Amino acid sequence: MDQRQLFVDWLAEQGIAGSEERLLFSHGAQHGIMLALLATGCVGETILCEGLSYPGLLGNARQLKSQVVGLAMDEEGLLPEALEAACRQRRAKLLYLTPTLQNPTTAIMSPARREAIIALARRHDLLIIEDDVNGLLPETPLTPLVNLAPERVIYLGSLAKIACGGLRVGFLLAPPALRAAFAQAMRLSSWMVSPLLIELACKLVSERQVMALIAQQRQVLTRRGELLRHLLPGARWQPGSMHAWLPLPEPWRSQEFAQAADALDVGVASGEHFAAGQFAAPQGVRLSLSQPATDAKVAEGLDRLAGLLRAAPPANSLL
Ligand SMILES: Cc1ncc(COP(=O)(O)O)c(C=O)c1O
Repeated sequence: MDQRQLFVDWLAEQGIAGSEERLLFSHGAQHGIMLALLATGCVGETILCEGLSYPGLLGNARQLKSQVVGLAMDEEGLLPEALEAACRQRRAKLLYLTPTLQNPTTAIMSPARREAIIALARRHDLLIIEDDVNGLLPETPLTPLVNLAPERVIYLGSLAKIACGGLRVGFLLAPPALRAAFAQAMRLSSWMVSPLLIELACKLVSERQVMALIAQQRQVLTRRGELLRHLLPGARWQPGSMHAWLPLPEPWRSQEFAQAADALDVGVASGEHFAAGQFAAPQGVRLSLSQPATDAKVAEGLDRLAGLLRAAPPANSLL
């Protein structure tokens, strides 16, 4: 069977509606983001996104001299009223967002919030990049934005994040009107993803190994989520999430907490690292639960962070 059709059928089984003509393979979702920025002609333009956003998007935008505008969020992610206000204030044609297990806050948009964002995108004629790299990780996935508005949503997914880190195969669904622009961006950036690599990905899909790998990953993450609940009960985590968000108590600032954790040999990412444009990042840090090799390592790291929270920040750390 055709490689693209096989992926489209597999995506349909997961509740993601696409078609063979709209599907393109990429070198992972990071490459998918770059293709989307090139294909939509957003070089030098304004890009709207969540106030705390994926640093890979922020880096790409900066490299392309595009200005990112970070918008206010709540526990479901992007706030529709913040999007509405931004669209009234400035001319923007592109919105990037991660509706499921947002990076770094772990927020998941409810169906009602998804509908509201799509209604606004239609009213203000916005294209949306839906970064869904974590979309298949929750036990019951939510309807992706692309199902609601295939004419304006660029859907990005990747096997690298959810199933097999070494297999850098991403898949994207492009709106029909942008199909030729995506094909051009692909040709000029790398000709194509190696068909041999795609064949390996297809083998994983057709042998039904992808969902088995995701299920395995969920189990590991559930155990680690439990450790988090015991050791750092203030952290925010949702089932399936590879990361957690730890809001910091007074008087900690995220940068100094990240430095203090680093001194204890525990890597955390300061909220500032994710701040889009001049968005005022809340004082918090992102913890990776998937990176450490063993549960014991996760527990050890969380225990050190809990100890740090019980202690006051060093008096001179801001000097
Ligand atoms: C939100 C988000 N998008 C995209 C990527 C990049 O995905 P890939 O490894 O498939 O390039 C990541 C990786 O961490 C991510 O967190």
